[in-house]
Amino acid sequence: MAGDDNKPEDEAAGSGRKLGRRDVLLGLSTVPALGLFGYALQKQRSYEQRQRQAAEAARPAAPHDLEPIDVALIGAGAQGQVLLDAMLRIPGLRFRAVCDIWTDFNLRRAVNTLKKYKFEVRGYEDYRQLLDQEKELDAVVIATPDFWHAPHTVACLEAGTHVYCEKEMSNTLEGARRMVAAARATGKLLQIGHQRRSNPRYLHCHDKLLGDAKLLGRIVTVNGQWNRAVAPDLGAPDRYLIPEARLKQFGFRTMHEFRNWRWYKGKGGGPIVDLGSHQIDVYNWFLGAVPSHVMASGGLDYHDPKTHEWYDTAMVVYEYETAQGPARAYYQTQTTNGSQGYFENFMGDQGTLLISESEASYPGRLYRDPNAPAWDEWIQKGYVTAPKIVEKEAEEEASVLDVRESVSPDEHRVPVVLRDPYHQPHLENFFDAIRGKAELRCPAEVGYESAVTVLKVNEAIEAKQRLSFRPEDFKA
Ligand SMILES: NC(=O)c1ccc[n+]([C@@H]2O[C@H](COP(=O)([O-])OP(=O)(O)OC[C@H]3O[C@@H](n4cnc5c(N)ncnc54)[C@H](O)[C@@H]3O)[C@@H](O)[C@H]2O)c1
Repeated sequence: MAGDDNKPEDEAAGSGRKLGRRDVLLGLSTVPALGLFGYALQKQRSYEQRQRQAAEAARPAAPHDLEPIDVALIGAGAQGQVLLDAMLRIPGLRFRAVCDIWTDFNLRRAVNTLKKYKFEVRGYEDYRQLLDQEKELDAVVIATPDFWHAPHTVACLEAGTHVYCEKEMSNTLEGARRMVAAARATGKLLQIGHQRRSNPRYLHCHDKLLGDAKLLGRIVTVNGQWNRAVAPDLGAPDRYLIPEARLKQFGFRTMHEFRNWRWYKGKGGGPIVDLGSHQIDVYNWFLGAVPSHVMASGGLDYHDPKTHEWYDTAMVVYEYETAQGPARAYYQTQTTNGSQGYFENFMGDQGTLLISESEASYPGRLYRDPNAPAWDEWIQKGYVTAPKIVEKEAEEEASVLDVRESVSPDEHRVPVVLRDPYHQPHLENFFDAIRGKAELRCPAEVGYESAVTVLKVNEAIEAKQRLSFRPEDFKA
């Protein structure tokens, strides 16, 4: 696997294909109108105009003294679209270009979206042509498949732009190391997309609840999961299929691999990397440590091995030596049953914190151990809500309580809500850092530590052994 992420760069070298500027500027924006005549065309145009006006009205106005940041997006798929939607809510960004190899579908959609917001945006199939032609760029946001992150990030940094690159930093440590080295050599900013690190709820828990107030006492165990129900493989409309010869130029063997790259070795890392990396990153962050050992059991237990190469099930135990003492952290991801979704649960000798990015499912609950000192001071300071009085069900009342049973801990809530889209604060942090108003919350070195922690799980599953990390493994 090592070095695979060099491959697409070389293979793509021969492609040399770019959407003509004119094609994109003229062609793409008129596509929705093709085939419509007379009345229908008129109707379509006025609909588009209304859309543009509505989009423009929804965009936040930038203060007059805010220097615009010129931005490009590379990779306008599912996540690229999510990032774009979040960025459109951030004032002071000027979108210049989008690059995506699925020119007739994702590239077209993203370019058309940005045109609705009145950006003079150009579309490219090849990132090198984008970097050759767009000399004014300050920042590039990258949301391509993991095996493209290193070539894309390194090229953008070397072209003089700051980079926001989605997680997983890379599918190989060799690729991730090249990214760290390029950020250092160029002095440009590189933010990795572990967006929980900028989420105000997670920040409140990290800084206030665990930091200032130390409400959990000593954290000794952690558990977390991302369970997903069986989902059909991703497909594509027949008329938008990319010919295999062209796919190969960009490192994909088939349309199935192009759409479902996460499941393929050398492209992504399977669910443990795709889903687990978010939460295992939070384990490291909240424990203030990186693990010393990992053991894992996993396999391709359910899905078709012809179209799924990575493990669909992984059960992992990390061992940490934290500043407070040893801690063990369990994590599981499976893709056959979505029960109880995704969360992280930190358990200390004085309390428990149950949190998830999905506030609707897990609104941030804290449980004070009955033996822990009272939390009145922290309730008064607004760190946690007053405890919820749990009404006992009649049936429960009727049951006979064994006197040896533990008393239930008080339940409190984390009183901080994220009202913006999940990714907005992390992107804002990136753009604030470019303006010199903030420090990156997930710079290259932190993204690297997280990649080392997560990528080792697949190794441990393969080896069927408890593997150790050396402190120097986490230094790029
Ligand atoms: N932070 C998060 O919560 C989160 C969520 C989902 C995905 N992601 C990450 O975002 C990235 C993209 O995931 P996705 O779900 O959007 O995948 P996707 O397959 O939907 O989109 C990838 C896009 O990249 C394009 N692409 C592929 N190779 C390219 C190349 N060489 N040059 C230009 N464009 C290329 C594809 O055409 C596609 O439009 C991944 O790294 C993934 O891990 C992060």
